[in-house]
Amino acid sequence: MGDASAEAQYEFIIASKPNPTVTLITLNRPKALNALSSPLFHELNHALAQAELDKDVGAVVLTGSEKAFAAGADIKEMKDIEFAEAYGNNFLSHWTQITEMKKPVIAAVSGYALGGGCELAMMCDIILASPTAKFGQPEINLGIIPGAGGTQRLTHALGKSRAMEIILTGKNISALDAEKWGLVSRVVAEGEGEVVKEAIELAKTIASKGRLSVMAAKESVNTSYELGLREGLHFERRLFQSLFATKDQKEGMSAFAEKRKAAFTNQ
Ligand code: CAA
Repeated sequence: MGDASAEAQYEFIIASKPNPTVTLITLNRPKALNALSSPLFHELNHALAQAELDKDVGAVVLTGSEKAFAAGADIKEMKDIEFAEAYGNNFLSHWTQITEMKKPVIAAVSGYALGGGCELAMMCDIILASPTAKFGQPEINLGIIPGAGGTQRLTHALGKSRAMEIILTGKNISALDAEKWGLVSRVVAEGEGEVVKEAIELAKTIASKGRLSVMAAKESVNTSYELGLREGLHFERRLFQSLFATKDQKEGMSAFAEKRKAAFTNQ
């Protein structure tokens, strides 16, 4: 069930609904290997905001092409920027909206996810990789460093020594290493479109749960990156307790006791 009207409105991305509960956003600048220009990011932010508002949608899938999820920030757009402009306009600040999403976002990565492309994938909640996926932070080859979270999120995912080696040399990580080292949750089977198909199935499964508990779970897991263990556990316990104020908790537990499938109403 595609949504053709959603597909018409963008130049650099395609937004569609392969299922009523899932928004699929496809980065679509094939000639530039989905280089993340500002106009592309503004469209992406708009599509994400629409998905967040859409009451039927429970999860989002973000993908690129078979050749490239995204080959990084648009180097041609960036190359002449001066310090005053970068600092004065807080360059790349428009990249963070995806991290404010309450609904889960799954990255379906085929081909290159380099620089800002790797950082964008790491801003998502789950990364699924095709066997062709190649992750990396090649900014060092351009005389800069990762600027959209690479030095932080890659280090959280892989540990200091591996992150240092990758960021200081600019060398790529294969899909298998990314899986072995915990950067991606899994590598799917070979085949064109396979990773997107798997990501949509995963998004559908998540969207079939109660929205409030999914959002609370996402918020609580993300909090583990920000807080120490004691504060994190405290935060989790309070959120857990607060879910007893929801109809979904009553429904979920009643359904279990009555041996039937829960019918969540997201309340
Ligand atoms: N920005 C702008 N254009 C890009 C691009 C980028 N990041 N990556 C690829 N392109 C363009 C190329 O310039 C080329 O355009 P033309 O046909 O007009 O010349 C087109 O996409 C196809 O690319 P290639 O011919 O290079 O394709 P390839 O298959 O030979 O190589 C690649 C693929 C190894 C990914 C190579 O394109 C590459 O190294 N790209 C740059 C990767 C990179 O350095 N990314 C980091 C960017 S900086 C950043 O992201 C900062 C941050 O932290 C936010």
